[in-house]
Amino acid sequence: MRAKYSIIFFVVVVTAISFYPGKRISAQQILPPLKEVFKKDFLIGTALNSMQIYEKDAGPVKLIPQQFNAVTAENVMKAAEIHPQWNVYQFEMADKLMDYAARYRMKVNGHTLVWHSQLPVFVQHMKDADSVMRFFVDHINTVVGRYKGRIYSWDVVNEALEEDGTLRRSIFLETLGEDYIVNAFRLAQKADPKAKLYYNDYNIEQPLKRAGVIALVKKIQAAGVRIDGIGIQGHWRYDAVPLQYIEESIRAFSSLGLETMITELDLSVLPGPWESNEADINKTARWNERMNPWPDALPDTVAQIQAKAYASLFILLLKYNQQVSRITFWGVNDGQSWLNDWPIKGRTNYPLLFDRIFLPKHAFYSVIETRRK
Ligand code: XIL
Repeated sequence: MRAKYSIIFFVVVVTAISFYPGKRISAQQILPPLKEVFKKDFLIGTALNSMQIYEKDAGPVKLIPQQFNAVTAENVMKAAEIHPQWNVYQFEMADKLMDYAARYRMKVNGHTLVWHSQLPVFVQHMKDADSVMRFFVDHINTVVGRYKGRIYSWDVVNEALEEDGTLRRSIFLETLGEDYIVNAFRLAQKADPKAKLYYNDYNIEQPLKRAGVIALVKKIQAAGVRIDGIGIQGHWRYDAVPLQYIEESIRAFSSLGLETMITELDLSVLPGPWESNEADINKTARWNERMNPWPDALPDTVAQIQAKAYASLFILLLKYNQQVSRITFWGVNDGQSWLNDWPIKGRTNYPLLFDRIFLPKHAFYSVIETRRK
């Protein structure tokens, strides 16, 4: 009888230990850190949400500084959050992010100064050029000025191009005219001369849109204004990473004297509702069951294909480690990825290197392996 109870006790204890979150954390402690593995190649970044900035989410508290040496605010530096009303700025969260990054010696990429999405309500319906100009100048000067000398880089302009490479008909183009982009870089450069200045967008590895970026860069450079690099967002599908176009883009940007970054990397495993692979947050689709094939777990076969896709991408980026300066994942783990709610709300996606309990997936190890080969 005693022996029976001892066995039951043993089983209960072992089971309890294996589910105890502390064990996961200690498993993470012995993981090879991405930031060390790729130290000679590029910065390895992640996007942080507010729970993570405040270190309220126990899961990734140790994992984030252990794995990453660069951070981007997922939302808290966007105009709607940091500049909610005329003459009202809310810097609390962004300040916290800066403190967090300083504490763990991480580089901060400011995301983002000029973008048509996540604009404050008071700007969204502005029609007259004077008001938009006042907002534009004040916003750039105030936000860049606040973090002057402390921030590593800024996504000065985000998503200013249409898929065909022409300028997006955003509020900025419509009211300020096409010079707004050169002006944004000029203002940012003046407000913090040492910060690196980037243009950031999705699908710009695609030839037509890439040609649009090249034209933009030439215009900025011809005006005698500085631009340091191009951020390719990298919201791709696990079975369709456009390797050839990425390679051509790195070469093209480099021949203009620019660094390239992958700034918002995630490889979605879910079906897309449209033919094209756009990442416009304003375009959404309706939920249906077919669009959410794996609500409970990611099938291992899919996880393996995703791991291969991540490896092929890293092998390519390693070939260009002189031209590529940073790779940032758009989130830490699958559970907090924006792709669970975009473009369709309430799905279960698995786009990152860590699973919902912050354990490394096949993709994590396949990425690490690319440097060991
Ligand atoms: C996304 C965030 O991840 C979400 O939390 C938010 O609700 C919408 O924006 N391109 C960008 C990012 O430049 O800022 C977007 O981030 C994703 C697409």
